[in-house]
Amino acid sequence: MPVSIKTQEEIALMREAGRILAIVHEEMKKALCPGISTYKIDKLGEEIIRSYGCIPSCLGYEGYPASVCISINDEVIHGIPDKKRLIREGDLVSLDTVLSYKGYHADATRSYSVGPNPRAEDLVRVTRQSFFEGLRYAKAGNRLSDVAGAIQKYAEGHGYSVVRDFTGHGIGKEMHEEPEVYNYVRPFRKGIKLVPGMTLAVEPMINEGSPDVAILDDDWTVVTCDGSLAAHYENTILITDKEPVILTRADGIDL
Ligand code: MF3
Ligand code: CO
Repeated sequence: MPVSIKTQEEIALMREAGRILAIVHEEMKKALCPGISTYKIDKLGEEIIRSYGCIPSCLGYEGYPASVCISINDEVIHGIPDKKRLIREGDLVSLDTVLSYKGYHADATRSYSVGPNPRAEDLVRVTRQSFFEGLRYAKAGNRLSDVAGAIQKYAEGHGYSVVRDFTGHGIGKEMHEEPEVYNYVRPFRKGIKLVPGMTLAVEPMINEGSPDVAILDDDWTVVTCDGSLAAHYENTILITDKEPVILTRADGIDL
């Protein structure tokens, strides 16, 4: 499948999907506190998604059992919510969720330090900012490797490492479309040129220590091999003939 270029009608639907997803994230953020179970956060996310007439895209995707991926501390991505898994003060928590609205998906991740934890706070800040450094290059005519290079430079410049084994992706009618959106530069591979109408999920996954990751026996949870902290930040964006547009945003809600 080639990289799809969205029409104005499709973009309008993806904007609405993204706006709703920003609201879902804001509500989950408000609920996040020491003592809450990851199960409860997942159910809250699912409830809000459905209240807007949207569908939680992760639920049942390749057998994934929840609507929100919740990854704590050394968990990088795809942590599975559980009634017995309680958030503790000082945890680094990543909430990753995808919804579809009238057949179009939006995908976003936010990471938080729950309560004070200077190490987690710095990693969360750098991971978020690495997305915005990449975003500056997400312009028509540039290549995906320009975005990747900016993300990598910022993250590594702050002493952190970029996870290699997972990438962002195109998004639209499908949750995962072409192209793969790398967060690091690969020798001799510049990636495609960006074109107006492309919609991409850009999602740096940044580790405090080594970039190496492993998958737990649940076949989903991706953890750092060295047990160091990991953070993840993601928005769905639209390439235009001018500045990129973040689709997973809503008025009055912080990115
Ligand atoms: N945001 C994640 C991604 O881009 C969501 C995965 S949903 C899951 O891959 F079902 F695979 F967990
Ligand atoms: Co994604």
